[in-house]
Amino acid sequence: MQSLFGKNIPISLWNSSTLYLPLHLANAHKKFLEERGWWASYDPNGSGGIGGISTAQAQDHVTNRFLNSAARMQFVCSDPNDEEILVREMVLDQLADGKIYLLDLAAGNGSGTLSLLSLICELREHGCLPKLPLNVSISGVDYSVDALGYYADLLGRLDPWFVSNGININLTLYNCDLSISGDFNEVLESFLKDAEDGEIKRFLCVVSALSGAKKDGIALLLDSLKLAAAALSHKKRNSSWLWVEPYVGKTWITKAIDTVKLTLQKVAHVFSSKGESFEIVTSTLKLEEKPKRSFKWLDPHKGVSAISHVFVVGFKNE
Ligand SMILES: C[S@@+](CC[C@H](N)C(=O)[O-])C[C@H]1O[C@@H](n2cnc3c(N)ncnc32)[C@H](O)[C@@H]1O
Repeated sequence: MQSLFGKNIPISLWNSSTLYLPLHLANAHKKFLEERGWWASYDPNGSGGIGGISTAQAQDHVTNRFLNSAARMQFVCSDPNDEEILVREMVLDQLADGKIYLLDLAAGNGSGTLSLLSLICELREHGCLPKLPLNVSISGVDYSVDALGYYADLLGRLDPWFVSNGININLTLYNCDLSISGDFNEVLESFLKDAEDGEIKRFLCVVSALSGAKKDGIALLLDSLKLAAAALSHKKRNSSWLWVEPYVGKTWITKAIDTVKLTLQKVAHVFSSKGESFEIVTSTLKLEEKPKRSFKWLDPHKGVSAISHVFVVGFKNE
């Protein structure tokens, strides 16, 4: 396992209590916007929405929300203030070396996962982590064909940098509506079969910025999320789950995450809708509320700083 502390984070990522996105990531996004003629419409204080199935929603989201989502992921995984070091350790442990299968659910344009990989890459480049060969097979699942196309485009721009730091990525995209669990089950079978064919037993599931779907939207996706958790809970699999959300101060999102966690950890529980939120009844595990964490980050396109609020949940099957 890699050992890292907040004070060791290079100043290219964290300086004077401000988060900086890796230059390669910021430049990849800038070039992406410029080449598509969308640079002039970059307005992070305006719309940006939550993404969605339409071309317009996907464009708006990748233009205006990509960096913010990336900043949240980088903040919780680098953890510069050593607030939740278990999450950082879990991520660095899973992505230290060797081969891993990464399931990116509601992946959209891949902002969360590309930020996570960019963080690892920047830490390697600065000698904070060893450059051991790392092969990550990503399956990105979303119902927006456009967003998935942006994911591939942005990864293509970052790939030479990743490769030069020993990180090899293989991206498979699945256009799938996660509210139809039968369709998602086909994706999951294919993902697991590929891993099994390669004799891979290490898995990471990433969910980032799904709470925009609100309580009813999340409820629609839970069958699929729990299918994934049940499959990854297999005792012969070494599975981690990383879930990062903007802090919205609502219990429905933390309870939804808890039911996925309990499924991954094979803990019997009853999950039901209750008023504006959900309720979980379980006798064995104490569930905790997640603290709000706030941080300042520099928007590299505008050159101005912004404040974001985030919470993270990381858990394993063993
Ligand atoms: C706010 S974006 C998050 C994107 C990305 N995970 C990130 O890190 O920023 C939410 C994503 O959920 C996707 N989504 C919402 N409902 C979905 C569904 N029923 N099936 C598949 N994807 C869905 C949207 O298309 C969108 O790309």
